[in-house]
Amino acid sequence: MIIPVILSGGSGTRLWPLSRKNLPKQFLPLAGDSSLFQQTVERASQLGDVGAPIVVCSDDHRFLVAEQLLQMKVGGASIILEPAPRNTAPAIALAALQALQRDPDAVMLVLPADHLIGDTASFQHAVEQALPVATNDWLVTFGIRPEAAETGFGYIRRGEALEHAFRVAQFVEKPDASTAQRYVDDGGYDWNSGMFMFKAARYMEELDRHAPAIAAAVRAAFARAKSDLDFVRIDPATFIASPEDSIDYAVMEKTDRAAVVPVSCGWSDIGSWAALWAAADKDDSGNRLEGDVIAIDSRNCLVRSSERRLVATIGVDDLVVIDTPDATLVASRERSQDVKKLVDQLKAAG
Ligand code: GDD
Ligand code: MG
Repeated sequence: MIIPVILSGGSGTRLWPLSRKNLPKQFLPLAGDSSLFQQTVERASQLGDVGAPIVVCSDDHRFLVAEQLLQMKVGGASIILEPAPRNTAPAIALAALQALQRDPDAVMLVLPADHLIGDTASFQHAVEQALPVATNDWLVTFGIRPEAAETGFGYIRRGEALEHAFRVAQFVEKPDASTAQRYVDDGGYDWNSGMFMFKAARYMEELDRHAPAIAAAVRAAFARAKSDLDFVRIDPATFIASPEDSIDYAVMEKTDRAAVVPVSCGWSDIGSWAALWAAADKDDSGNRLEGDVIAIDSRNCLVRSSERRLVATIGVDDLVVIDTPDATLVASRERSQDVKKLVDQLKAAG
């Protein structure tokens, strides 16, 4: 049985002012009527032989998650509550231990809650291809054809062909810009999509080998967890003692049992307003207008109004305008990565 594991712990600061600490981007309807989190749960539920999802999120977001699952009438989920974020290696380990309680042979499909996938059928096909590979004790990643020398992604060099997949010859998390450019020019590299598939038991073995301190802390914290309805509350003191690291650095760069299934499914990790604009349907002028918006002689803009206010543009190109009740962002589209700098400045100012 496949158990979907939804990673929902991120804070998504680059989509400020819409995405905030108390309401991060995965819980917002950024593309369509339901949230990215709900779309992720929905996509996973459509796979064959799939169990109820395991969601791993911050304790602060427990009601958001429970409410959004309830809206979708998803029952039987396990909602694992982290007392503090320790990045994805520990988060996935918590989910692995929960999955093992359900089924010692459980295969986990790890899905970030904040990705957009335009082509669900291709995604499902890739998961079907990956299932026998994961069952055969490989740690499967899903590889995306790189479009640019992005430094925010992991890069995977494809090795020998396996059935339905390739062995990972090399996994490099977030290379510098010149290395990323070399990988893109080479043609033999994929981006790591951040979605993974492996047996829960296999992941814990790899963690024991490559990051024993994380494995030990997470086992201790999970053993002391308290269950209450769908919530699994992780013990704070023992969990906080875990080193902080991502699965990419802690496991994927180090293991020799990684495989990659290439997938082309209209994937976007919505890392910025520009990425959301690029992934969205646009009108004939290249604009994506959401809410109460009028755009005259404007091209290639993303404009979003808040609930009560009309937003209008005249004669502007390549802008991002995001209005909310207490803050408005106006940025050049190509500078939208720098929203992170702005948020850091706001945090520093208290
Ligand atoms: N529960 C939980 N706890 N979830 C977390 C935590 C945590 O401590 N930290 C991150 N997440 C969630 C995020 O919400 C996101 O859905 C997912 O895990 C990945 O974390 P990111 O912080 O977004 O990672 P990244 O984008 O820098 O890099 C990863 O994704 C890229 C593709 O988008 C890596 O896997 C890269 O290799 C990959 O290319
Ligand atoms: Mg990400």
